Amino acid sequence: MIKVLVINGPNLNMLGIREKEHYGTETLEDIEAKIANKAKEMGIETDFMQSNHEGAIIDKIHEARGKYDYIIINPGAYTHYSIAIRDAIKAAEVPAIEVHLSNIHAREEFRSKSITAPVCIGQISGFGSMGYIMALHAVKGLEAEAK
Ligand code: DQA
Repeated sequence: MIKVLVINGPNLNMLGIREKEHYGTETLEDIEAKIANKAKEMGIETDFMQSNHEGAIIDKIHEARGKYDYIIINPGAYTHYSIAIRDAIKAAEVPAIEVHLSNIHAREEFRSKSITAPVCIGQISGFGSMGYIMALHAVKGLEAEAK
């Protein structure tokens, strides 16, 4: 079984309530259930964490080292300024895929810069919660290519 850790950063616990025009009406619980079901069908085991705290996210990324095959991460606003999360992703050496619900390139200028994307395999942005499912497909594709 491929093991994937899905990390959601600050304010993503407010999904379904917060800025629905950008983030949709699904709650984080809905989205995690959707990811878990799809992942199971695809032969992927998933674990989830959400935190509003940079240090907690960093600790979790460190713990992922040697334990997970991939990380799918939506770092929320930390995307745009957390060098510490970027360094954690690099240090953990667990291949990571960055996901954003909204298209960060089509919003305020400050959102178009991702500090974390350069240490990830790639970024999926603008497809709503489907982005996480797209990331699962990317995991499957990468695994198939590695064989
Ligand atoms: C986000 C985009 C970020 O700019 C923002 O701060 C978020 C959510 C997204 O999923 O579209 O919290 O990561």
